[in-house]
Amino acid sequence: MSYQRYIVSLCTLVFVQWSAAQVPKDFLSATFHKNRRAELRKKMPANSVAVIFSNTMRNRANDVDYVFHQDPNFYYLTGFREPNAVLMLFSDMQQDNAGQRYNELLYVPKKDPRYELWNGKRLGMKVAKKQLLFDRVRTTEQFLTDSWQFNRFKKILLFKFQDDFRNSMRSSVDLYDLVVHFKNSANYVGRRTLPTSKQQLYQLIRATPIENAASVAQYIGRKINEDATLAKDSLLVTYSTKEVAFQKEIRSKVRQMLAVQGNFDHQFLPRTMATMREIKRPEELTLLRKAIRISAMGQVEVMKAMKPNMSETEIQGIHEFVYKKYGAEYEGYPSIVGAGNNGCILHYIENSKTKVAGELVLMDLGAEYRGYTADVTRTIPASGKFSVEQKAIYELVLKAQNAGIAQCVAGNPFWKSGEVARAIINKGLFELGIIDHPDTKHQYFPHGTSHHIGLDVHDPGNYNNFEVNMVVTVEPGVYIPNGSPCDKKWWGIAVRIEDDILITKEGPVNLSDEAPRTVEAIEKLMRKESVLNQFKLPKL
Ligand code: GLY
Ligand code: MN
Ligand code: MN
Repeated sequence: MSYQRYIVSLCTLVFVQWSAAQVPKDFLSATFHKNRRAELRKKMPANSVAVIFSNTMRNRANDVDYVFHQDPNFYYLTGFREPNAVLMLFSDMQQDNAGQRYNELLYVPKKDPRYELWNGKRLGMKVAKKQLLFDRVRTTEQFLTDSWQFNRFKKILLFKFQDDFRNSMRSSVDLYDLVVHFKNSANYVGRRTLPTSKQQLYQLIRATPIENAASVAQYIGRKINEDATLAKDSLLVTYSTKEVAFQKEIRSKVRQMLAVQGNFDHQFLPRTMATMREIKRPEELTLLRKAIRISAMGQVEVMKAMKPNMSETEIQGIHEFVYKKYGAEYEGYPSIVGAGNNGCILHYIENSKTKVAGELVLMDLGAEYRGYTADVTRTIPASGKFSVEQKAIYELVLKAQNAGIAQCVAGNPFWKSGEVARAIINKGLFELGIIDHPDTKHQYFPHGTSHHIGLDVHDPGNYNNFEVNMVVTVEPGVYIPNGSPCDKKWWGIAVRIEDDILITKEGPVNLSDEAPRTVEAIEKLMRKESVLNQFKLPKL
């Protein structure tokens, strides 16, 4: 190699290395995902296969799609972040014709320069195999041609099909094609998940009371005329052409057929994945802690920057700007910024009020960092100072929250924190004269107090007892909408305080405590200058 060529190659290598370093590297490791697959396989029943589908693109309007988000279970098991893929895990070793053994198989979209020019790089089969540490990777095209004898497995483990996606013309093999192919080759018939019109018609027959059989028979007759394959189905033909006695007989045959789905199991995966996901592993905790700290920082910056003439949208923007500044890829759920009465809508995401002046502003937002999402709520006065009524409600919710957090102790039942928080709120509402008796049924605290967080904001779990390394929210609230049956002075006050709590051997650890919670600490921080005060844009 000439000296110049050597230098050029070296520079190229350095540049490639350097540019490779310019993307986030702190995602969960491939080993993490591989170990999770191994753990799931250990729990799978003998002679079973798990077939798990990724998410797909969702259309926003015309030729614009929503930003893609991977299915969290799929991500947990693979680390793969592209749409339209299939994971198959086998309880027992499989062997191909060449004698190669494997117990996991990932189908990924194939490399496609034209697609990648517009939509970004795909890993492709080779890189996916190496990078994601899979025994075996094939393309999704191959999924459509591989003939799996699904009926040789004692159990086929599945998540419920949601059937809320469409067959896109823009992707050569998408989730729709993959699911339809799977359902056809596995002879799958599920409730509300109907792969072919033939099976849809069976479902229709099953659901039709015999007195309505005539009109359904007519309808099926029309379908048979439109589709020659249906004309070969003797059950459908008989149902559509013969009288009631036959229709009755066919209905019972169809019922039997649809009932014989012994090897499909929709329970195992959700239950087992909940058990695995509810306890966070060290790698997960690192990312979750970061997502939570970022979200707390968003609250801190907004506390400093808040001005009465701000809009809910602008407040949302400051939080989300802080998230992005820290490199968080998304919000974990649509941001909730509700001033005054808007705060009474629990998942208010319009965030459209143009001036928050005079109100309490309820801000429930969470950054998603490398897949893990926080869920943090602070409620602060737009003016920087709580009114007497706002303070009374706020301090009641805070007292309930502190008592709830104290119950987040390994061994305690999950509902314990909620029960304790609710009792305090009921007593407090009574003492403030908002309800007539501590036992009065009311609508001022209409939600639960705790849920797991993780890859999902409402992460799956068994919700039995608290265990070490669970991360849960504690989020009591009081919401008094305009027109409530109490003194008007309380109307339009909504307070939720939500923190993310790690259960440890030593007790609860509040991972979001960098965002102040007491009235004094909030008012003090709100008196601070924000650098955003200098950020002025020209009037348009
Ligand atoms: N942000 C939704 C919740 O608090 O559960
Ligand atoms: Mn929550
Ligand atoms: Mn929340």
